[in-house]
Amino acid sequence: MAQFTERVFSGVQPTGNLHLGNYLGAIKRFVEMQARYDCIYCVVDMHAITVWQDPKELASQTREVTAAFLAAGIDPRRHIVFNQSQVSEHAELAWVFNCVARLGWLNRMTQFKEKAGKDRENASVGLYAYPNLMAADILVYRATHVPVGEDQKQHLELTRDIAQKFNNDWSESIAAHGHGDAFFPLTEPLIGGPATRVMSLRDGTRKMSKSDPSDYSRINLTDPPDAIAQKFKKAKTDPEPLPSEEAGLAGRPEADNLVGIFAALKDVTKANVLREYGGAQFSTFKSALIDLAVTKLGPIGTEMRRLAADPGHIDAILADGAERARAIARPTLEAVKDIVGFVRSR
Ligand code: TYM
Repeated sequence: MAQFTERVFSGVQPTGNLHLGNYLGAIKRFVEMQARYDCIYCVVDMHAITVWQDPKELASQTREVTAAFLAAGIDPRRHIVFNQSQVSEHAELAWVFNCVARLGWLNRMTQFKEKAGKDRENASVGLYAYPNLMAADILVYRATHVPVGEDQKQHLELTRDIAQKFNNDWSESIAAHGHGDAFFPLTEPLIGGPATRVMSLRDGTRKMSKSDPSDYSRINLTDPPDAIAQKFKKAKTDPEPLPSEEAGLAGRPEADNLVGIFAALKDVTKANVLREYGGAQFSTFKSALIDLAVTKLGPIGTEMRRLAADPGHIDAILADGAERARAIARPTLEAVKDIVGFVRSR
């Protein structure tokens, strides 16, 4: 049997407007994973250019996502923080995976359909092959666990399919090169907690997203306290008071979303929140939510602004992280080349 040490990998795109969904669904959980796993956190700039990015903004957004990681509490010395384009092994492995994944698998990806919209003929080939690069990100480190929000679930299923097909197609060569019966692990998605899918503050049936034209639909990590307060005050609700039990949230997407946000920020369950606020009017609940959000998010925004003033410091962290990431990725890629039958210099 092949042996895999437990390792976490996850990525965030530097496409602007990091928001509360990114924080609660991903970054806050990245921080928590550090106590239990060796973690590798990546700013996926190569994924970002699958849709057009202004070069100056891409660079500053890459630094901003890095600043968010650090401000939230990721330790770049004990773990690894870097940007994807500095470790070319991601792109090299992605090419092999382009030859493993089937068109039929990619045709089922809902995120491509959403992002390409009606004008599919005009979408970049990179946007279509996006999930293969994502599989390469994860598997070049042979990562066993990937914390993400609910929207990435289908991509992680594809990552498992790619790992499985690679292991099957090259099983003899994998064994002949001394890697046992499986070269890549079947990665476990870690999708959990009360905020795996944070919804828009204007419409509880739509996901909170970087690209929503209304800034009132999301809390940005860089929003100052008065903006956080304004946005929650204006957040859509319904006329009923809060229920006392979770079952009472069914059919009330806005109430469900705000209770989920509160629970995730406070590290409790939705049931706990409703035990305290069941029967309360939204005005009361929203003031408590605003206090909580400002207490938890305020310091992150302040630290992000402080870090933004020193891009040289951020760039040094990314360069150091890239070097340490490469040291793990390179042997994986060399083994893949041997398994596939590429001749390489030694
Ligand atoms: P991205 O940049 O869109 O989002 C980063 C992370 O935030 C989560 N997220 C949410 N969670 C809860 N509620 C929301 N409304 C919400 N919106 C976003 C996402 O699920 C994600 O965890 N394809 C990935 C980036 C990526 C990646 C990877 C992730 C590239 N390679 C390898 C894991 C492993 C993406 O576009 O995330």
